[in-house]
Amino acid sequence: MTAATGCGGAGIWRRRADVVVIGTGVAGLAAALAAHRRGRTVVLLSKAGETATFYAQGGIAVVLAGVHADGDSIDAHVADTLAAGAGLCDPAAVRSIVADGSRAVAELVGAGAHFDESAPGQWALTREGGHSRRRIIHSGGDATGAEVQRALDHAAAHLDIRRNHVALDLLIDDGAVAGVSVLSEDGPGAVYAPSVILATGGAGHLYQATTNPEGSTGDGVALAMWAGVPVSDVEFVQFHPTMLYTGPAGGRRPLVTEALRGEGARLIDAQGNSVTSGVHPMGDLAPRDVVAAAIEARLAESGDACVYLDARGVVEVARRFPTVTAACRAAGIDPTTQPIPVVPGAHYSCGGVVTDVHGRTAIPGLFAAGEVARTGMHGANRLASNSLLEGLVVGGRAGVAAAEHAVDAGSARLVAPAPSPRPVLARPELQQAMSRHASVVRDDAGLGLLIDRLDSAASRIINSRSTFEDAALTTVAGAVATAARARTETRGSHHRRDFPDTDPAQAASIVCAPVAAGCR
Ligand code: SIN
Repeated sequence: MTAATGCGGAGIWRRRADVVVIGTGVAGLAAALAAHRRGRTVVLLSKAGETATFYAQGGIAVVLAGVHADGDSIDAHVADTLAAGAGLCDPAAVRSIVADGSRAVAELVGAGAHFDESAPGQWALTREGGHSRRRIIHSGGDATGAEVQRALDHAAAHLDIRRNHVALDLLIDDGAVAGVSVLSEDGPGAVYAPSVILATGGAGHLYQATTNPEGSTGDGVALAMWAGVPVSDVEFVQFHPTMLYTGPAGGRRPLVTEALRGEGARLIDAQGNSVTSGVHPMGDLAPRDVVAAAIEARLAESGDACVYLDARGVVEVARRFPTVTAACRAAGIDPTTQPIPVVPGAHYSCGGVVTDVHGRTAIPGLFAAGEVARTGMHGANRLASNSLLEGLVVGGRAGVAAAEHAVDAGSARLVAPAPSPRPVLARPELQQAMSRHASVVRDDAGLGLLIDRLDSAASRIINSRSTFEDAALTTVAGAVATAARARTETRGSHHRRDFPDTDPAQAASIVCAPVAAGCR
């Protein structure tokens, strides 16, 4: 076991640990706690700001052991997940993660998390899009992520968490991970460790408006690609159908949880007509890509800026959905008396760094868990509330695997960071081009323009958080655009205007990496 200590050296600060975890959302904290419980020294690196976990509203999709409410079963949850994933899930991975959910939730409760009850001792279960049963546990009505984050933050309070530390590059020694180069308030440095876990979340800031927190800039996918680690399914960006619309402002915008539709809210246009009627047998609770595409089609037809979620019929809406209610009221909308203006918004990266269900990547010692990873759980489209589940289950497993690897691998060598210039497109331009050409509906011409623009980005030395994030976004945008152009069909959350049908011959994942090799 290595003590997490400083080690001298000219020019940069250096530290050692057994396991470095990048990211402090559900997957990162579950991983760090698991590695720490196995006696390893763990250092967590965090950029400033909130995690995506904190903002999760709906809940955790889980079939609770011994509780088969609503006729639910592991088989039914697996079937719903595979249906949403549109042929690209790995069925064995889905089953493994779903079947471990009840245990992982029990562990979270052991860490102090509380969930809403419908009767004493009985958790309340709600439904969201694509779920055939009520199986989503929630907390504080629609503040599930905040409760999960609170419980894990409390459990991890004694761990070595370095805030305002940006992981700039993976350090690789003889084909294995040796640590991470870092930028902190003390300047450039490195944390050396034989195990590194990427838990950096998603990349919603590829787009002008997103439900994601400001730190969701694709960092882990970019770090992996720069190190030559395969990433996959990145063209499948999930647009949440109902992001609060208050005008054309960009950045993070409040989510209006799908659980509102699970409790009876209806999607209507400005004339009061249903948006999804005749579109899908599950109507407003169809998978997200279907609902988001139906909204986009209605907006294109009407020329309106938004559609509406009518939650006026939802029982005790303000009490059951306090987070949404507060966001609406802050924008001058009362959801008890007015329909809520909504548009689809960039919400979740279904693909990411290719891993197994223990978070192992192609490079020894490198692990990934949570939204940054592609385990095969989500395929072409994630089922609502499966992400906190996956983060908990695979995060915990990755922590165990990383702890074991650290013992086997021994101390990492102090390889010197070798900063490389990276292509960087200015963020406003990148977000505008991605929103225009790689959004809910794409086509070859637009993706071609986008790729040309990304290819022309000049390289810059990475010497600040913002240049690092812009470089990460530029790399990830290139992968998304290239894979989206190569996928000449419509499948899951990837809709092509020029190829509106699903092509059975393309029922395989596209893998991108290393950066120079493109995607195939
Ligand atoms: C929601 O509450 O609608 C979002 C939940 C999720 O994305 O899983």
